[in-house]
Amino acid sequence: MSCQPKKIIIAIDGYSACGKSTFAREIAARLGYIFIDTGAMYRAVTLYGLRHGALHDGQVDEAALVALLPEVQISFAFNPERGASDVILNGENVERQIRSLEVSEYVSRVSQIAAVREKLVDMQQRMGEQKGVVMDGRDIGTVVFPKAELKIFMTADPAVRAQRRYAELQAKGQPSSLEEIAANLRERDAADEHRAISPLRKAPDARVLDNSHMSVAQQMEWVMGLIDELCR
Ligand code: DC
Repeated sequence: MSCQPKKIIIAIDGYSACGKSTFAREIAARLGYIFIDTGAMYRAVTLYGLRHGALHDGQVDEAALVALLPEVQISFAFNPERGASDVILNGENVERQIRSLEVSEYVSRVSQIAAVREKLVDMQQRMGEQKGVVMDGRDIGTVVFPKAELKIFMTADPAVRAQRRYAELQAKGQPSSLEEIAANLRERDAADEHRAISPLRKAPDARVLDNSHMSVAQQMEWVMGLIDELCR
């Protein structure tokens, strides 16, 4: 990068399995910014609900979960091995547990609850007060930071996304069928786009990044060009 802009907020929104977190982490590393994965925060609340009986047998007891919310404290701690921050729930590192299939199955419904969103959006806004953050999620450019200096909306061909997630799970030794993965992505896209509160939308001033046929290096070149423009 040829110039160092004043600290800004970079908001990255988009569909599931588009590589948002990988991209956001890489940008944060290049700029020396803090990377905040807001999906991990919704997952941490979901884990807490599972552990305390508000979510079970496929049911979400909304009143019980909302009653638990004051007990939920979420923070992040940098993990040098991953080059990213792990999520800390009430003092416990739960980065691995929040990625379980069980959490993935409930999290879309948990993220539709107004009181959950209110609490997490408020935390996210406080995390961004000093700027110098790259935050990824579904409503960052529209609700959390509508005035973010740079907004990116990520998308990719659903078949490419399914294939990437398939390869990722294979590499982790958790094979799953390509058709199952594609169906799960379709469901999550629909849930994110059609929910009543803060649905997934491109902010009018967001730049679209379709990375179906782009490497991470090409995506970085594109975004660094935009960041360079911002400091002219
Ligand atoms: O990015 P992810 O798949 O880890 O997100 C988990 C869930 O949280 C996903 O179903 C959408 C929801 N989410 C949200 O509603 N708003 C955000 N800012 C981030 C995630």
